Amino acid sequence: MKIALIGGRGRMGSAVAEVLREKGYDFFIIGREDDFSAYREADLLIEFTNRDATMHHVEQVVKDPRAYIIGTTGLTGDDIRLLRRLSGRVPVLLSYNFSIGINVLLKFMGNLVGALEGYDVAIVEKHHRFKKDKPSGTAKLLESAIREASDVPVDVHALRMGGIFGEHTIIFASSGEVIEITHRALSRRVFAEGVIRAIEFLKDKDKGFFTMGDVI
Ligand SMILES: NC(=O)c1ccc[n+]([C@@H]2O[C@H](COP(=O)([O-])OP(=O)(O)OC[C@H]3O[C@@H](n4cnc5c(N)ncnc54)[C@H](OP(=O)(O)O)[C@@H]3O)[C@@H](O)[C@H]2O)c1
Repeated sequence: MKIALIGGRGRMGSAVAEVLREKGYDFFIIGREDDFSAYREADLLIEFTNRDATMHHVEQVVKDPRAYIIGTTGLTGDDIRLLRRLSGRVPVLLSYNFSIGINVLLKFMGNLVGALEGYDVAIVEKHHRFKKDKPSGTAKLLESAIREASDVPVDVHALRMGGIFGEHTIIFASSGEVIEITHRALSRRVFAEGVIRAIEFLKDKDKGFFTMGDVI
């Protein structure tokens, strides 16, 4: 299997490239200056760029599809609809957070929110100062998991500071107690290792739309 790593020289892309190299995967990088049409030489595409670049690429891939793992955040509802259309022909996996911890948390969020009826809920996310989208894709995932289980209003706060890889805290408070659940990425490697699990998961899929929830 040959992999094209799109955005492979960026912060996240470099972390993925390092783990792909260590594990002996056959891959090449497509950066901003490279000819995107080289993607056709690959069986699987992995993309960590920005929303506009990703959707420009998706529009081309729709014409000559390849299996696609997308980690870029900030996609719109229309973007996701196009990805779902593509997933009718090839496997597509979209995840705003490849860590196992966040995805396990997402699975349990409905139960937790249901059990804590009447509690106020907030999400606080912190990321490095270069992160462009705000709030983070992960904060949006957490928020929608809470909203699926309850109509409680969710206050979302985003901080952009220093070099923080990614930190999310969900806070539940009643008049008598406070519960805080924090997920902290200690390096980008945790996301890159999740990408490897996603690659292995997609290997035997012909088509379909998946998330990390399916992988774990
Ligand atoms: N899903 C997750 O688990 C997860 C985790 C962390 C981050 N992210 C997301 O991943 C994305 C990238 O984040 P980052 O921190 O790695 O950003 P970054 O350091 O700015 O890297 C983005 C990379 O994309 C490249 N790029 C831009 N336009 C391109 C194009 N048209 N064709 C090919 N490559 C292009 C850039 O190339 P140049 O270097 O030439 O500009 C750069 O190397 C963001 O959306 C971020 O929110 C997701």
